[in-house]
Amino acid sequence: MGNNIQAPRGTYDVLPDQSAKWQEIEAKIIELCNLYQYKEIRTPIFEHTELFQRGVGDTTDIVTKEMYTFQDRGDRSLTLRPEGTASVVRSFVENKLFGLPDQPVKLFYTGPMFRYERPQAGRMRQFVQFGVEAIGSKDPAIDAEVISLAMELYRSVGLKRLRLVLNSLGDTESRIAHREALVKHFEPRINEFCSDCKTRLEKNPLRILDCKVDRDHPLMATAPSLADYLNEESQAYFDQVKMYLDELGIEYVIDPNLVRGLDYYNHTAFEIMSDAEGFGAITTLCGGGRYNGLVEDLGGPESPGIGFAMSIERLLLALEMEKVEIGQSQNLEVYVIAMDDASKKKAFGIIKELRSNGISADMDYTGRKLKAQMKSADRKGAAYVIVMGETEMASGQVALKEMATGEQQTVAFADIAGTITKKKSLEE
Ligand code: HAM
Repeated sequence: MGNNIQAPRGTYDVLPDQSAKWQEIEAKIIELCNLYQYKEIRTPIFEHTELFQRGVGDTTDIVTKEMYTFQDRGDRSLTLRPEGTASVVRSFVENKLFGLPDQPVKLFYTGPMFRYERPQAGRMRQFVQFGVEAIGSKDPAIDAEVISLAMELYRSVGLKRLRLVLNSLGDTESRIAHREALVKHFEPRINEFCSDCKTRLEKNPLRILDCKVDRDHPLMATAPSLADYLNEESQAYFDQVKMYLDELGIEYVIDPNLVRGLDYYNHTAFEIMSDAEGFGAITTLCGGGRYNGLVEDLGGPESPGIGFAMSIERLLLALEMEKVEIGQSQNLEVYVIAMDDASKKKAFGIIKELRSNGISADMDYTGRKLKAQMKSADRKGAAYVIVMGETEMASGQVALKEMATGEQQTVAFADIAGTITKKKSLEE
């Protein structure tokens, strides 16, 4: 063989022995979103690059360093979506969902996102996010609802070691006051910071606090905290969010340094971390927050929103660390063994009949001997096995063998599906 092609760095395959876990999580997501009345939205995997520049913010790491951007054959600049919020808001505006009689519009999505990051455990270049967005309300109760939905999903798959970290980024007025204080704080010694931070000082000084290069600089620890610059209204909003979380019995810790890596946030910001032992450097499972100006920034009417996103990859990692097993694959119900060509033809018809009746059925397609086929039936966990040869073809009947008990029952060809259906309904 020549040089084998491998999956690109930072991507991976979900192999058949893992897919049941994904399906279980996806089923839980659908069930939970139905309980909370969030409806699914599906948006394109690529968008105009400008959407993310304007939506996510052109000083963020995501936009400056991590986007998969390309020119298409019509010379448009397109980008594989690095996150879902900008796309959902674009769609909300484009499709005039703000005009729907029932606001807020409560949406959820699951799908692949793309970021050119340095791959490590829990950090991939293609990863799958589950996210929700509630757009069209600035009721603090909806903030608490969104947070509780995220927590509930983790709980429903069996995670326990969770920590909800909460902060308020305040409104525009509070943020401007804080921004001025930050500039005053960092400006005199900005020469000691990396070149990115120098740009950040002018464009978005809050981002300095997020810098991975300068995080140990002494000025970081003494930087003015946003908490001290929240105006009365922002403080009152934050207090209400906390009150609703208390009402739901959801515990949280306040972290005034939680700033989040995207520009659209204001007021509520939160992350859910895993405290499970053995977790690597990355312990954030989920991040989200309020984005009151984003719909207007993308050309819509005033429609305040809040949402979150979590990757399924990190959820699976957390399950592994907490040693929670999910995703039992469905066992095979009937394995039909054919001894010769004539019975194979009949067996082929029988498995079709079984499947039409909602019974999973399979047979051998590699011409193996009886013994090897028996082993195969065993490995697949078949509940029933049928062996068909000359005798069965002559009598029009088979011995239906129940593997768990070894019991055999003689059944006419035409009654196989009916008999199994009856047995199944007795078991239930
Ligand atoms: P984010 O914090 O950039 O926020 O990402 C949210 C979550 O996506 C992270 O907590 C993590 O679970 C997952 N994630 C991000 N990057 C990677 C990666 N490279 N590999 C694996 N998982 C990753 C957002 O994306 C916002 N759109 C969230 C939001 C929705 N805010 C409001 N609405």
